Amino acid sequence: MTDFRKSTVYQIYPKSFYDSSGDGLGDLRGITEKLDYIRDLGVDYIWMTPFFVSPQKDNGYDVEDYYRIDPRYGTMEDFEELSRQAAARGIRLMLDMVFNHTSSRHQWFQKALAGDETYKNFYIFRKGKAPGVPPTNWESKFGGSAWEYVEQFDEYYLHLFDVSQPDLNWDNPQVRREIQKIVRFWMKKGVKGFRFDVVNLISKGSFEDDLQGDGRRFYTDGPNIHRYLRELNETTFGTDAEIVTVGEMSSTTLENCYQYAGEDTGELSMVFSFHHLKVDFMGNEKWVMVPFDFQKLKDILYEWQTKMARHRAWNAVFWCNHDQPRVVSRFGNTEKYWKESAKMLGTVIHCMRGTPYIYQGEELGMTNPGFTDIRQYRDVESLNHFRILQEKGLSRENAYQILAIHSRDNSRTPMQWTAGPHAGFTAGEPWIQVTDNYRYINAQAEQEDPDSILNYYRKLVRLRKEYDVIARGEFEPLDVRNPSVLVYKRLLEGEELLVICNFYGKEISWSCGENLESFRCLLGNYQEQKIDGETAALRPYECMVLYREK
Ligand code: GLC
Repeated sequence: MTDFRKSTVYQIYPKSFYDSSGDGLGDLRGITEKLDYIRDLGVDYIWMTPFFVSPQKDNGYDVEDYYRIDPRYGTMEDFEELSRQAAARGIRLMLDMVFNHTSSRHQWFQKALAGDETYKNFYIFRKGKAPGVPPTNWESKFGGSAWEYVEQFDEYYLHLFDVSQPDLNWDNPQVRREIQKIVRFWMKKGVKGFRFDVVNLISKGSFEDDLQGDGRRFYTDGPNIHRYLRELNETTFGTDAEIVTVGEMSSTTLENCYQYAGEDTGELSMVFSFHHLKVDFMGNEKWVMVPFDFQKLKDILYEWQTKMARHRAWNAVFWCNHDQPRVVSRFGNTEKYWKESAKMLGTVIHCMRGTPYIYQGEELGMTNPGFTDIRQYRDVESLNHFRILQEKGLSRENAYQILAIHSRDNSRTPMQWTAGPHAGFTAGEPWIQVTDNYRYINAQAEQEDPDSILNYYRKLVRLRKEYDVIARGEFEPLDVRNPSVLVYKRLLEGEELLVICNFYGKEISWSCGENLESFRCLLGNYQEQKIDGETAALRPYECMVLYREK
């Protein structure tokens, strides 16, 4: 059995990974063709974002049919072949289950719109407060009201995301049974991992106006959430001890995550939380331009690391996914210290307590594309907010600057395989433009370079398997208020790991009152470490992983 504490997950956004057919969209066969590359990284699981039948308004997070594969991505045979080929390389597949909402094209919603009461009760329909006034003032995560008016019923339906993503009514036991059926269907296909999309939003609380925020406090970590997760566990994946699960937890709290991902709470194996990725927001407002707050970043990471451990709960640890900008553009330095900073950021995550996730291209140090024209963008959230920002009075230039920093398309540009046309992603026209730097940031070049970010990531993945202290050790923050360095220890019986990371481009000397020469360096992003007694001289973005046995 694969131990998820020693495992690393590789996330694939199929649309942008590898196109085997030449239509400009990545596909399942494309993933199969690249399995050796993934195996060589050393990872244990591949999480693939949704490839089910979908109108693709939100790139597959709007599911029309959970039992079928979107022909754009391939066929069920392609999936089974991928599954076999992955298993032959010791890799397991993790599927993305979107159960907070369906696509409005799902037959359930179509039947609801046709007036079938059974199916209307699969969703959340409510009367408006007054003519033309929605039931509550809640905002959609993608901008605008979270309610859409349906004339034939003189009612509104709830959509926390796009209008084409109506929220399911989990309080209806029939809905929960249908969802269980879907999970069991994929379990029968041999799937050993599930990621549950925004799963802490499924249990809605009371429907009232939010006078303090956008409504999220009424539906996040809602009243029945733990009961629904335990029920899903018991009736589906909980019956197979080999299955690993991760819940995507939107705006959640630590207290809820102790439950979601506790060792014996019977809910999920681990959680994604996002507080550490809001340190360049203003409160919950993402569409702003502010420098990232390093102290806040450390405080949040430290708090989640220590408190989850204390409550015997497990984190998924990560910087990147298909919704986040590229980390090297965000917290690193893509100009002078691209390689150093990408390796340093990888080190921070991969030596932590939790299961690390690598998002495709992160292991190459892929950057934000720097789009400058709205026609380059594809994501519904970006397109909406480009308009909303200008409606709020921002200039077009300002709106572009904000998009270039925060757009989800930053991570959705094609995987950079080679220095050839379209970075070797497709023989056709890619659905979204390739980032210009593919001539030097690409898998082929990095495979050949022993000092590459790719080869460094391979070492990070291996270290977790070799050193129990990384997989299982306690977490202890050090020098918490240091304005440029992030440091922590991991401790397990007689083993000790010390991770030192300089987050900035200036040299700094760091000491902790311990003899650093008593440690052995397992990994670093400079050739030799400058250690003298209790002091380490850290160069720009330098990181080191030191180890000793007591
Ligand atoms: C999650 C997904 C995101 C999607 C949203 C709605 O946050 O990661 O891509 O748009 O849920 O399903």
